[in-house]
Amino acid sequence: MSVASETESLRQAALDHLWQHNRDWETAARENEPLIIVGGEGIHVTDSDGRTWIDVSGGYSSVNIGYGRTEIADAAYEQLKQIHYFPQTTANPPTIRLAAKLAELAPGSLSRVFPVSGGSLANETALKIARAYHRRRGDHGRFRIISRRGSYHGATGGVLFLGSIPNAPRTDYEPSPPGMVYAPQPNAYRCELGSQSASDCAVACARAIEDLIRFHGAETVAAVIAEPVASGPGAVMPSPEYWQLLREICDRHGVILIADEVITGFGRTGKMFAVEHMGVVPDIMTLAKGISSSYLPLGATIATEEIAAAFAGEGNHLKHVFTYSGHPVSAAAGLKNIELIQEEGLVAHVAKTGVYLRESLQQLQDRHPLIGDVRGIGFMQSIDLVADRQTRAVHPAEVKLTDRLNTKFKDRGLLLKAHGGHILNLSPPLCTTRENLDEILSGISESLSELETELG
Ligand SMILES: Cc1ncc(COP(=O)(O)O)c(C=O)c1O
Repeated sequence: MSVASETESLRQAALDHLWQHNRDWETAARENEPLIIVGGEGIHVTDSDGRTWIDVSGGYSSVNIGYGRTEIADAAYEQLKQIHYFPQTTANPPTIRLAAKLAELAPGSLSRVFPVSGGSLANETALKIARAYHRRRGDHGRFRIISRRGSYHGATGGVLFLGSIPNAPRTDYEPSPPGMVYAPQPNAYRCELGSQSASDCAVACARAIEDLIRFHGAETVAAVIAEPVASGPGAVMPSPEYWQLLREICDRHGVILIADEVITGFGRTGKMFAVEHMGVVPDIMTLAKGISSSYLPLGATIATEEIAAAFAGEGNHLKHVFTYSGHPVSAAAGLKNIELIQEEGLVAHVAKTGVYLRESLQQLQDRHPLIGDVRGIGFMQSIDLVADRQTRAVHPAEVKLTDRLNTKFKDRGLLLKAHGGHILNLSPPLCTTRENLDEILSGISESLSELETELG
């Protein structure tokens, strides 16, 4: 079979049988999709027709180490040959080593690790730990969870109702579980509370969380969950006051602070974990994505010694099991991935090259009236596209701004999708070089110029 006809037959089978993320098969067929990816190396992937693409999104902001690392494949293969799986009522060497490694890397006394197989399950686990912790201390009324509008914490039944994504309403899945409380997102460019400076926005949004705790009664609030840098609204890196205040507020009211580091962990922001920028230690931290660079499904929920202590002793254990929790092959891949991130100095590379990326984006902003704001940190940077810089208004949906831009990126070999009508998230693999960034930014710039001409 020729390459073209093999691609065609695979594509047809996908259209007939495969349920893709966030899209339907009729639209995919119209757009001659899905794209079928068959290989990858570094920041590049290759499709079934032999075309090479730059993955500007790093998978789902998850391929930290880059594609094609045979060291990780070898580690997984070796483990598969030894013992591929056994339930976590026992333990296995890679999972034990991974737990110890995470405890070593995580700040403060975060040291008790519940392994899972992805970010949603890490957050589901965190919510269960938070509620069960309060119960073990005789605090039976604490069930509410405060999350922030615009945040994303996963797709499973509980965490689905945390945060919110403007263009993906959850009405299909209602009713929501009880106890979901929503706070503002500290996005200084679009501060819901009307603050004019980054610092005022951070303080007002943190105070709003305290107001919600007071309004609902601290005795009913179990936890606050937040990403140190939220990606949904476009790399929101709050002013430093925000996390300091969150820590103080949670301490004052006996509320557990959960940091969702599913995207931000493992070097993406130029530190191993983004809370290190904030100088704050959360009570629970959730990890996934970069923990294995997506080589195999892996995640973890890590609690402080103080929280974990409530679960020691007869009858106190956490009643919580996933079949694939503590999977030795995923753990072996994760360990090798973390080893490579450290050995290759990728965290320091991102800290340095992230500054270059940010400066280059600012130069792009000077040239393109479509760019209202650039924000973020490290290799988690975003462009906020506007119709009018003065008012910060976005283009009406009829303009189909993001669809048009996505096509232009594709024409230039860039795998990068604008989302939410006006947000462009750049989260390439951590091994991306300055030269790679120049190539990416020139493709983005050309696409924006073309669109600006079309829009007049
Ligand atoms: C911040 C954050 N938390 C949780 C999740 C859910 O992770 P997963 O898709 O691995 O379940 C995501 C996924 O994008 C995320 O970005």
